[in-house]
Order: sequence, then structure tokens, then C-alpha cells
Amino acid sequence: MSVSLTVNGKTYSHEIEPRRLLVHHLRDVLALTGTHIGCETSLCGACTVLLNGKAVKSCTVLAVQADGADITTIEGLARDGKLHPVQEGFWEEHGLQCGYCTPGMILAGAALLTEKANPTDAEIRRAIAGNLCRCTGYQHIVNAIQSAAAKMKKSKPAARPARTRARSRGLPRRALRGSGRGRR
Ligand code: FES
Ligand code: FES
Repeated sequence: MSVSLTVNGKTYSHEIEPRRLLVHHLRDVLALTGTHIGCETSLCGACTVLLNGKAVKSCTVLAVQADGADITTIEGLARDGKLHPVQEGFWEEHGLQCGYCTPGMILAGAALLTEKANPTDAEIRRAIAGNLCRCTGYQHIVNAIQSAAAKMKKSKPAARPARTRARSRGLPRRALRGSGRGRR
């Protein structure tokens, strides 16, 4: 099937096998390997990307389902050489160790902050409940997202606008955030 995707601001059109997962398309065809694969069963969140502004697990979305969508991967989050506040937060608050879960965690945090400028710790933990980390114990990750929220509040005009979300319907519910089983 012919599929057109806008990924990190660039539009690509490809013939795609209907069974190909979005995560495989991003990594194997577009060479965006910052999107990691952990479980491929919608449990770990390592493959999280933003699809029309919503954090989704790209191992649970067929590439053809994303036809016409606007996708942001970790490679597209920084702008004009400047890290996104959530990326800065992870850097400053030691929100990572091995880094395997980090792209997914950062995108889940960024999606939360576009919807909720002042999340509580509990809301952050709920937002990243579908993202597993085997290293940090999560508190540093929560601190990193809180730090980003504080920065974004200070520089409100620079806060990133929410992306259009016209075509996120039709995705399996388990692709959306907060569907993981881990509780923090
Ligand atoms: Fe684990 Fe997608 S690879 S949720
Ligand atoms: Fe290692 Fe999260 S930093 S899995």
C-alpha cells in the first residue's frame, strides 16, 4: 500500500506491506533508530513515538494505520540545535542510566506536558506507567519531567504547540499511553 508519513517535519511516501509495524518502518526504512524495540508486545514503551501529538507504542501500530499522520521520534524533538526541555530535564536530573528506555520516556513526558502544564508526581507516574525502566527507580525520571514543566512554564511562549490530532482514531487502545501494567 502507498503510505505517506510526515516524520520529524519531513514527508515520506513509500509502498509498505500492510503487516509492517510502524516501529520497523521508522528504524529499518527511515533509519531512525532512536526509537527502540524492547518487547514488541506493547508492554515496555521503549518504542514510544508521538503520533499526531499523542504518545503511542509504535510496535502496536501498523505503518499503514499511520498514513497521513504527523510523527515525532526522539530525533525530531530538539529544535534549532536546542534540546527540548524534557531532554534537558533528563540530562540535569540524571533521569537515565543505560538510556534504553529514555527516548520513549522522554516522548511520554513531552506528550504529558503538552496536555498538562503542571502535572503532579502522581500524574507523571501515571503518564509513564506504560514505560518500563530497569535502571533508575523512576524518581529521577519524575524529577526530570517536573524540571521540564517548571522550565516550560517560565518560557511559556516558547512552549511547543500541540500537534494536530486528526488521524489518531482507529488505533488500537493498547497503543496509547498508560496502557502498561507496571505501577510506580
Ligand atoms: Fe515494548 Fe513496543 S517494544 S512496547
Ligand atoms: Fe536503563 Fe531506563 S535507563 S532501562
